[in-house]
Amino acid sequence: MKQIAIFASGSGSNAENLVKFFKNHPSISVSIILTNNKKAKVLDRAERLGVKSVVFNRADFSKSDVVLNTYLKEIDYVVLAGFLWMVPESLVRAFPNRIINIHPALLPKYGGKGMYGMHVHNAVVSNKEQESGITIHYVNEHYDEGEVIFQAKTQVLSTDTPEDVAGKIHELEYEYFPKIVEQEILAAQ
Ligand code: GRF
Repeated sequence: MKQIAIFASGSGSNAENLVKFFKNHPSISVSIILTNNKKAKVLDRAERLGVKSVVFNRADFSKSDVVLNTYLKEIDYVVLAGFLWMVPESLVRAFPNRIINIHPALLPKYGGKGMYGMHVHNAVVSNKEQESGITIHYVNEHYDEGEVIFQAKTQVLSTDTPEDVAGKIHELEYEYFPKIVEQEILAAQ
């Protein structure tokens, strides 16, 4: 059984979608959800879904290998689903081509520092982009610059608000993220 650990910092709708997709999966399971934010709604989702959850602090994640050594020893893949902290080098090295992130834009555009959540969709709308989308990629030490695994696009209408774009992007995320994670894990076996 391949074990997935999900990292999330906020609402966790993608984390919930992943847990549901892999429930009763023959060879892949989500065994833990980890967050840096004790107020994150993802913790409520984990409890409701019956998935172990952990809140960690910067000392244990960014400044030491406590999280890596305590919670990730049995893990095969790390999936970042709305996780806002940089992944430390030691974690990237421990999981070479085994950390998968989803970004709510068509990287390399609208990536990098500060480009997360509504900031991305605000920029897409204010720049009058005619399309946006999702990027699912491996995480390397340069974060949003890891190898792209998959992209999907959606049209942005001139009448779309950033919230409209966010809704379209979430639809793409829910449709594709679990399937691409499954595809990558099965292909690596
Ligand atoms: C998603 O838009 C994802 O692309 C980005 O952060 C957001 C997380 O949303 N990485 P949620 O917490 O899964 O609802």
